[in-house]
Amino acid sequence: MTISNQNDLEALREIGAAVARVLKAMAEAIEPGMTTKELDDLGRRLLEADGAQPAPELCYGFPGATCISVNEEVAHGVPGDRAIQPGDLVNIDVSAEKHGYFADTGGSFPVPPVTPDIMQLCRDGRRALWQGIHEVRTGRRLNRIGARIQSFADKKGYSLIRNLASHGVGRSLHEEPAVIPTWRDRQDSRVITEGMVFTIEPFLSTGASWAEDSGDGWTLVTAPQYRSVQYEHTLVATKRGPIILTEAA
Ligand code: CO
Ligand code: CO
Repeated sequence: MTISNQNDLEALREIGAAVARVLKAMAEAIEPGMTTKELDDLGRRLLEADGAQPAPELCYGFPGATCISVNEEVAHGVPGDRAIQPGDLVNIDVSAEKHGYFADTGGSFPVPPVTPDIMQLCRDGRRALWQGIHEVRTGRRLNRIGARIQSFADKKGYSLIRNLASHGVGRSLHEEPAVIPTWRDRQDSRVITEGMVFTIEPFLSTGASWAEDSGDGWTLVTAPQYRSVQYEHTLVATKRGPIILTEAA
């Protein structure tokens, strides 16, 4: 969506703060032995307490309130019986609706003991997101976001998952501008307009560049030797730069 008044911005800030709070609380609750379903149940309760509805369920009939993807799972992981193990890398993606407005956030969280490689991957994943965020300004090409993230990934020796893109959000979970690449795409001539609402969510990987169907109809995976991270914010573009809606207080 494109925000057209103060009410739009306030409503987006409200749901943005809610998903950010829930993501933070879920991340802090992760511990070995917990199943991804138990973690998801916590997310569901917290969203409910905030008067928010889980967007994946609302928009797609996803079997869970949040997406929880572990290790070789990259995205859209279905919460279930999988027990979180020491050393796992857990991605949580929280998106929700309140009063007709949607926001989307996500992050990857390593469970101790954490190897230096995974620590570095997580740090670089957050940096990749911020590289993209710094390119957001009304009037610029949308593809500068992906170009900058790709330069960063190349320099650090990572790949980017190319079938999971960023996207417009606001009045639904996925809307125009659709499929915003977080990799270099010279063909994309779309321009960022004032008040445009969208996500940035690069999937930085130790070698995979495609996420495959796992067979359950939802979960996307890579070959087991790779690890991927995703960090996501929802933001509004302005002349002065981005307003980030999903930063935890
Ligand atoms: Co998301
Ligand atoms: Co998203």
